[in-house]
Amino acid sequence: MAHPSGEGVKPAVLVARRIFPEVLARLRQHFDVEANETDDVWSAAELARRLQGKAGVLTTGTERITAELLAATPGLKIVANMAVGYNNFDVPACTAHGVLATNTPDVLTDTTADFGFALLMATARRMAESEHFLRAGLWNRWSIDMFAGTEVHGSTLGILGMGRIGQGIARRGAHGFDMRVIYHNRSRLDAATEAACGATYVSKADLLAQADHLVLVLPYTASNHHIIGAPELAQMKPTATLINIARGGIVDDAALAQALRSGQIAAAGLDVFEGEPQVHPDLLTVPNVVLTPHIASATLATRRAMANLAADNLIACLTEGSALTPINPEVLSA
Ligand code: GLV
Repeated sequence: MAHPSGEGVKPAVLVARRIFPEVLARLRQHFDVEANETDDVWSAAELARRLQGKAGVLTTGTERITAELLAATPGLKIVANMAVGYNNFDVPACTAHGVLATNTPDVLTDTTADFGFALLMATARRMAESEHFLRAGLWNRWSIDMFAGTEVHGSTLGILGMGRIGQGIARRGAHGFDMRVIYHNRSRLDAATEAACGATYVSKADLLAQADHLVLVLPYTASNHHIIGAPELAQMKPTATLINIARGGIVDDAALAQALRSGQIAAAGLDVFEGEPQVHPDLLTVPNVVLTPHIASATLATRRAMANLAADNLIACLTEGSALTPINPEVLSA
């Protein structure tokens, strides 16, 4: 029975998707937790209903925190995303409602950069396409140009979006595969960081024209919507590969499927899609694309670290008014 003064009452929080039991147990030490054990994806109305009386919520990139939802959940103090990207949050609306927003940077950087590089290699060396061929029983002899791909070592690696993950991919390319690394970003890195990454700043036009392998690692924003569409694909080399580990909507998937089918570029590797988990039907039928279901940060160690960091943000915010990785820290000082 709660004390009538409210003293000793734990704040209520919602965990919107299934997470690791030990992280849930840690949250239960501090909070009255409602968890989503079935891992269903709730509608906006269901999320709003479950958020009534909650002080915090642990979300994944799937749950959208909109101005409308915030207006309907006046007790909410923190939305803790278990993702580094937070385009599922309306951050200005969070700030306007005095709701702290947090994400999970750093803990996933190297794992995600590893995956970006793996996807680049699988795409350039046609691993998925050739595996499907083998599984279909079509392999009956060795042949000189069978599944001949494009060179990775010594080629030009282009990176669009040079944050922590982009820098991780640059280091792997420059130092592991002797690649010439070029990048384009909203702002240029300082000289020491460029040197550590072995990367050279170029214009977007030069990046598109010169990259043998172009990796997209930029956040999704309204101005980045379809930043790679038909006009950009037309500027790439016909031998080039395109890798998207950033967000769906950054690439115009219909235009990309068309460019892959017509041979305007050689191949693509995609971990994220417009409207995922739906995938543009044309991408499912072109052979020269490697498709993975948004798993770039998916190692158990990294997903644990992400869940723990999101939990730590909830605990810090609701027990001492601080946060480890705030997106809108101004809410804390207000
Ligand atoms: C995954 O896409 C993330 O933003 O962490």
